[in-house]
Amino acid sequence: MANDHKGFTLWMTGLSGSGKSTITEVLIDEFDERGIPLEVLDGDVVRENLSKGLGFSKEDRDINIRRIAFVADLLSRNGVPVITAAISPYRAIRDEARTMHEETGAAFVEVFVATSLEDCEARDTKGLYAKARSGEIKEFTGISDPYEEPESPEIRVETHGKTPVESAEQILAYLEQRELIPARG
Ligand code: ADX
Repeated sequence: MANDHKGFTLWMTGLSGSGKSTITEVLIDEFDERGIPLEVLDGDVVRENLSKGLGFSKEDRDINIRRIAFVADLLSRNGVPVITAAISPYRAIRDEARTMHEETGAAFVEVFVATSLEDCEARDTKGLYAKARSGEIKEFTGISDPYEEPESPEIRVETHGKTPVESAEQILAYLEQRELIPARG
């Protein structure tokens, strides 16, 4: 049944170009096909509106992530499935997002999109890694700014040698198993 879903936040974290947005696109189609509502808070999109004007200092990233966590929590505690797809490089702030959800009773599923820096940089779809290496972009995650890997994420997606569809399937299987979305019969 389409209305068997529960509210939850699927919190994707990973380097720029790791595949967070691409996997999210697959999940959007899949939720649509299954008739399950979904809201998405994508880092690049959030920075165009909710977080417009923020930069990439630790302070600004923390504000950005806290805003995303706040909105995700509002939605998920009211029964809406949410995907967030921001780098969210700092463990402490991701844990803060988790605690916020725990306090309101909304399910929080941390997904580490574990694409290596080497792979992200080799693809460099936005050309940003090259600019980070040349120094044109400062404070770039993975190059001149930290990325703190999750220690015990609910899901760790090893994207190397996998298609985005396969990565999305791993996530869907987890959500079904947790009964956050209905199993496909
Ligand atoms: S976060 O650190 O605050 O979570 P967020 O996901 O919103 O980052 O934005 C990351 C995106 O901004 C990247 O995918 C990239 O396109 C762009 N970007 C521009 N400058 C930087 C930078 N210095 N570090 C990381 N990403 C950057």
